[in-house]
Amino acid sequence: MSREVVAILDFGSQYGQLIARRVREQNVLSRICRADISAEELSEMPLKGLILSGGPASVYDKNAIKCDENIFELDVPILGICYGMQLACQILGAKIVPAERREYGRTNLSVLDKSDLLANLPESMTAWASHGDQIEDLGHNFTKLASTETCPFAAVRHNKKKFFGVQFHPEVSHTPKGSQILENFLYDICGCAGDWKMSDFASETIEAVRRQVGNDTVICGLSGGVDSSVVASLIHKAIGDQLVCIFVDNGLLRRNERDHVVSTFRNHFHMDLRVVDWSEQFLAKLAGVTDPQEKRKIIGAEFIEAFKSQASKISNAKFLAQGTLYPDVIESGSKDGNPAANIKLHHNVGGLPEQLGFELVEPLRDLFKDEVRVVGEYLGLPEEMVWRHPFPGPGLAVRIIGEVTKEGLEVLRAADEILIDEIKSAGLYRKISQALAVLLPISTVGVMGDERSYENVVAIRAVETVDFMTADFSRIGYEVLGIISNRIINEVHGVNRVVYDVSSKPPATIEWE
Ligand code: XMP
Repeated sequence: MSREVVAILDFGSQYGQLIARRVREQNVLSRICRADISAEELSEMPLKGLILSGGPASVYDKNAIKCDENIFELDVPILGICYGMQLACQILGAKIVPAERREYGRTNLSVLDKSDLLANLPESMTAWASHGDQIEDLGHNFTKLASTETCPFAAVRHNKKKFFGVQFHPEVSHTPKGSQILENFLYDICGCAGDWKMSDFASETIEAVRRQVGNDTVICGLSGGVDSSVVASLIHKAIGDQLVCIFVDNGLLRRNERDHVVSTFRNHFHMDLRVVDWSEQFLAKLAGVTDPQEKRKIIGAEFIEAFKSQASKISNAKFLAQGTLYPDVIESGSKDGNPAANIKLHHNVGGLPEQLGFELVEPLRDLFKDEVRVVGEYLGLPEEMVWRHPFPGPGLAVRIIGEVTKEGLEVLRAADEILIDEIKSAGLYRKISQALAVLLPISTVGVMGDERSYENVVAIRAVETVDFMTADFSRIGYEVLGIISNRIINEVHGVNRVVYDVSSKPPATIEWE
């Protein structure tokens, strides 16, 4: 490591990766480290600053994670956030107590001292807090920089050491001026140069993959979605022909999807791409099945069979590459080998590494979706691939309510194509996070020409979301909805009615099944 780095000591915060991401947004490289990393280890890094994250513990808990107290002797500025602030302040002589009134959610921060950490902020601003303990007595070593109605020491500075603490969370979007605080810390206090870019992530990751893989072969399940496409390109850049991609055609794909993936990755990027046509097996297993969970289970199991059938033909394969992103990784503890880390495997390939004895290569594990897109652009992936809406592993099977049939799939493919086409023509594709058509198992009466029709209903869903955990329905104009409806009813045989889904998530999920 040669460039400047800011280390984040992770005390089990749900926001550890978010802090890292905010630091990256300021063009500074961040590394998430164990909370108890020694000052000596830290001093071997080209360290410009340290951030102590929040965490679920109270500093008084018997098992509370502590840090090496010698980190306060390192000559680098330290920012403590929430628990990180309390722990540091306790070590440095302040008194922490359970707050009389706990502070969760939105709070109003009065900024009292704007000379450094809180420079360029208004006197009063919204901040987001989540704590049960707080500082009661600062002692003689600190200066108070900000307060809230219930928390007298919401931001502090140590008088001699380069330590700052904030009781609230500057990293979350609910603290709208939080990025200014991080900018003040990174640039004015730590003196970072800010010359790190997302493209550096790509080159460093390519190097790391080379080191991890050596001369062995890596298999990558390629779906054509953003994540697996970026993973495949990144690894291909690292090890070229040692990468073998497997694309499973489960018969539940959108129109032309398979051809598109083949032309991009085999013909354009010259990757070794093996296509497994397993569509008949999938459809046979799904025959007569209507329960959504059952469909998912069948598809998951069949995917493993299909994948194994091809993977077993590849000799010397030791690694399996996965497009796991940070939001796929649910953690209850910190990273870097901490046994408390509780990891949710990607739904589509869960089980594969164990069954085939693969080691995992997950180069995107620390990134958020929008960051993956930036990496994809840097790697030269086509725009429509980089900005593609997500598509679920079980494919159209979870968009056909009831039994999945070949006829139903054809109807849905045609409707889906029109929907996406019209959303693109209206210039809405990037604004909308995900758009989909759903085939409903009900027939309604219509009139076409002079004849009565009795055909299916297609529901359209379009949502806007940042993280796909919560979402709102997209306010597509009636004009565009009208065009979509007209085209589907006129062009797709078997559909005589189109409805628009105006539910938010929660309570409705994005997919209908
Ligand atoms: P829900 O429907 O849970 O979807 O609101 C949230 C996001 O996840 C996608 N999704 C899946 N992706 N396998 C996947 O790979 C699945 O089984 C699955 N189910 C939902 C969904 O399309 C949306 O982007």
